Amino acid sequence: MSQRVVIAGGAGYIGSHVCVELMSRGDTLLIIDDFSNAHPEAIDRIRELSNANVVVLKRDLADPMHKADILEAIKAFRPDGAIHLAGLKAVGESVAEPERYYNVNIGSALTMIEALKAANAKKFVFSSSATVYGDGNTNPVNESGGTAPTNPYGRTKFFIEEILKDIAISDADWQIVNLRYFNPVGAHPSGRIGEDPNGIPNNLFPFMAQVAVGKRDKLSVFGNDYPTRDGSGVRDYIHVCDLAKGHAAALDYLAEDKKGAIDINLGAGKGYSVLEAVAAFKRASNRDIPFEITPRRDGDIAEIYAAS
Ligand code: UFG
Repeated sequence: MSQRVVIAGGAGYIGSHVCVELMSRGDTLLIIDDFSNAHPEAIDRIRELSNANVVVLKRDLADPMHKADILEAIKAFRPDGAIHLAGLKAVGESVAEPERYYNVNIGSALTMIEALKAANAKKFVFSSSATVYGDGNTNPVNESGGTAPTNPYGRTKFFIEEILKDIAISDADWQIVNLRYFNPVGAHPSGRIGEDPNGIPNNLFPFMAQVAVGKRDKLSVFGNDYPTRDGSGVRDYIHVCDLAKGHAAALDYLAEDKKGAIDINLGAGKGYSVLEAVAAFKRASNRDIPFEITPRRDGDIAEIYAAS
């Protein structure tokens, strides 16, 4: 059954793939994005790929001056529910500017909750992260793993999950899915949308891509002395199109009138090391990826991957 869905952060890397997936199956979307880390062209390309139109509201969910507009637009849209992907996501930046991260990420989530409540559309899919697990679990990690995020960014994700759980307890009509993403990578097969971060990429795949096209000289591999099979960090890399399908599945699940809040891992269920990822990227792109081993990055853990 097609649904009317608000997509907060719909112009970003993951959001744009979610929009294409949902619109291609007939859902009607209202995208809210401030374009602080997204390109306006992404919207044209979402329209082109899904062959459908979409309404876009350029507003900042964390800005009190924008709140009235946002509440009004969401109510007028008459949504069934929302997917909330808007927020700041750079781990290092969150350590340097924690207040900004708490303001933006938690403020945006609270605005979305208020707007959905006012619109009487109490279905909420939240873009959480495997970062909520921290370093204390045995791999593979399932949803009952302990939570101990190690930086302000991760704590914003964890706190928002907890807020949503409190809200589900306070009002039994709420239906909430916390999607805990592992490491999203790749792009739509058309090549028309993908990951294109502003500035120097923080994450492994966009960095490797920029080395492959000659935009950067070499990759720094952060540490080769972890207790992993080759000493480099191990992560669970999930294709962004599979991740997008996970959002569609979460909406279908909520459409069955499931009440309360649930946590769901979105991973591939397999861990790859940084050195394995470099070798695979090299093979797939047919380009050299020069790299050097540098010290570990603060806050990184040795290994995490999802249970399949
Ligand atoms: N890495 C490098 N060099 C780089 C960048 C990364 O060696 O230039 C390594 C990291 O040390 C790590 C692996 O590549 O071992 C993956 O690092 P990413 O920065 O791509 O991803 P993270 O696992 O650190 O974090 C990602 C997202 C977070 C999310 C987290 C959940 O960026 O938003 O996954 O586990 F919270």
